[in-house]
Amino acid sequence: MKTMQQLQHFLTMAELTPEALTELLALAKDIKHQPSVYQNALSHKKVALLFEKASTRTRLSFEVGVAELGGHPIVLSGADMQIGRGEPLSDTIQVMSRYVDALMIRTFGHEIVDTLAAHGTIPIINGLTDLHHPCQVLADLLTIEETFGTRSGKILTYIGDGNNMAHSLMIGGALSGMEVRICAPEAYAPDPQIVHEAQVIAKETGGNIIVMTDPEEAASGADVVYTDVFASMGQEEEATMRLQAFEGYQVNANIMNQANDEAIFLHCLPAHRGEEVTADVIDGKQSVIFDQAENRLHAQKALLVTLLG
Ligand code: CP
Ligand code: NVA
Repeated sequence: MKTMQQLQHFLTMAELTPEALTELLALAKDIKHQPSVYQNALSHKKVALLFEKASTRTRLSFEVGVAELGGHPIVLSGADMQIGRGEPLSDTIQVMSRYVDALMIRTFGHEIVDTLAAHGTIPIINGLTDLHHPCQVLADLLTIEETFGTRSGKILTYIGDGNNMAHSLMIGGALSGMEVRICAPEAYAPDPQIVHEAQVIAKETGGNIIVMTDPEEAASGADVVYTDVFASMGQEEEATMRLQAFEGYQVNANIMNQANDEAIFLHCLPAHRGEEVTADVIDGKQSVIFDQAENRLHAQKALLVTLLG
């Protein structure tokens, strides 16, 4: 774990101490409320944004964010680069380190971002791997803090696949002193090692990390109800099978009724209405999904200023 000053890369939420996370979110709020103060924070900095998977929010929020900070974003597609033809990652990142000041990458295996961080000399930001999506969770925690005025003690229930979102939410929630309940069918439970990692952090912060299988029980008394797609990017062929496996794990009005009256609904997006969530919930009064999506921009600007400013 690193303090704000020591932060070199952002590969998982566990890069941050609880205090660094609090500082980062405070900076995000300041940037959100007075963006012009930071308009030259990344002056002359070049930030490569490399995508090996599709993206709407991550691509736009980083590209706009770098531009609003006075830097120069360079959007790249893995398929168009020599890595797509087998150039070793270690060569690619050493070359990129000579041209740009930071690399944000969205890719498959998490070991890819570890390799880039090990061989490059520039900050690496994880814009989603199969295992983690920490940038999304910065925005989620900012949204929770804005809604309730605090994160500590809040109960976040995630119903769905034990995937990258579930993993980053567990660590981010643990750092925040929150109770995070991950509710998934047994075969789709989160990675036990990451559960353990989050539980160790939660012990220090007064948080709690629980893995459950009963959605109604999980939603009971929750402040935040969260879900994500049942089939993530790269799992398209499993979509039909997963739809069956996740029967009973949809966030619907009944699930929201188990939660607190003041509870909010969050979804990292993109969403499949009628699958992991009903249209009445995601388009309903408790849903703050577009504030959440907007917060990607502010939270990531804070991250960029911290790493490069
Ligand atoms: N939530 C998220 O990362 O969205 P994109 O896949 O559109 O970037
Ligand atoms: N779990 C999803 C998140 C998308 C933002 C995926 O990996 O496709």
